[in-house]
Amino acid sequence: MKIPVSGDCGQRPVQIAGSRVRRWRRGALAALLLIPASMPAWGQESVPTRHFTLANPAELTDADAEKIYKRISNELVRGYQLSDHPAARSYQRWRRFNRAPYRSGPHGERFVNHYANGVGHDAYGALKEGETMPVGAVIAKDSFAVTRAGEVYSGPLFLMEKMPEGFNSAGHDWRYTMIMPDGSIFGVTKGPDSQKVEFCQKCHQTAGEGNDHLFFVPERYRIPPAE
Ligand code: HEC
Repeated sequence: MKIPVSGDCGQRPVQIAGSRVRRWRRGALAALLLIPASMPAWGQESVPTRHFTLANPAELTDADAEKIYKRISNELVRGYQLSDHPAARSYQRWRRFNRAPYRSGPHGERFVNHYANGVGHDAYGALKEGETMPVGAVIAKDSFAVTRAGEVYSGPLFLMEKMPEGFNSAGHDWRYTMIMPDGSIFGVTKGPDSQKVEFCQKCHQTAGEGNDHLFFVPERYRIPPAE
């Protein structure tokens, strides 16, 4: 597992498995999602992205993860909002689909949460074979990291937005965006630094045609849709 740890201003990721510290170059490690949690962009107001240290990080229960999330969510959102992305402003008021944050291997072993906006929430998690999400649906996934030493860091906001047909036919017309904890935008499909988020689409495509490139929340954490 490789997650960012702040040695000096959070600019160096620590490769925990081999305990080899490497200089971080923006973008160079994107494909593996080894992006440090805190790297204020020049001229931007910065928010703290390292929050506190846990005494027993190896024994986190779902309830513990939820408590951590509640404790940091205001700061998490404040950081994302520096991007001025509309989803960063509103996603916390959308329907949440998981009952506790859970570790997501594909998203850098970070703890994640899923939200879907009003256009998307009825369909998200309830798609029938071959159906696609409505245009305008947005799914937001915020995240935080807990290092082996128990330090809690903000993680990126992962977004998928369903665009009109023809936007990106190879990727089922999804626009992927990754917003860093300091509000800087790492990449946007068909927008700035589009190539940096190509790996999102590549992996999501493996979810297949049957479910519109979506994976959904793992069953154990899923809040069933309201009746
Ligand atoms: C290696 C595979 C992989 C990569 C790379 C990846 N994802 Fe995901 N993504 C998943 C899986 C698996 C899930 C569902 C389970 C989970 O959360 O781990 C998911 C879920 C999501 C969701 C919730 C919608 C859904 O599919 O249920 C969003 C939004 C998302 N990812 C955005 C992104 C963005 C943005 C990137 C790139 C910055 C990205 N993902 C990179 C595998 C991946």
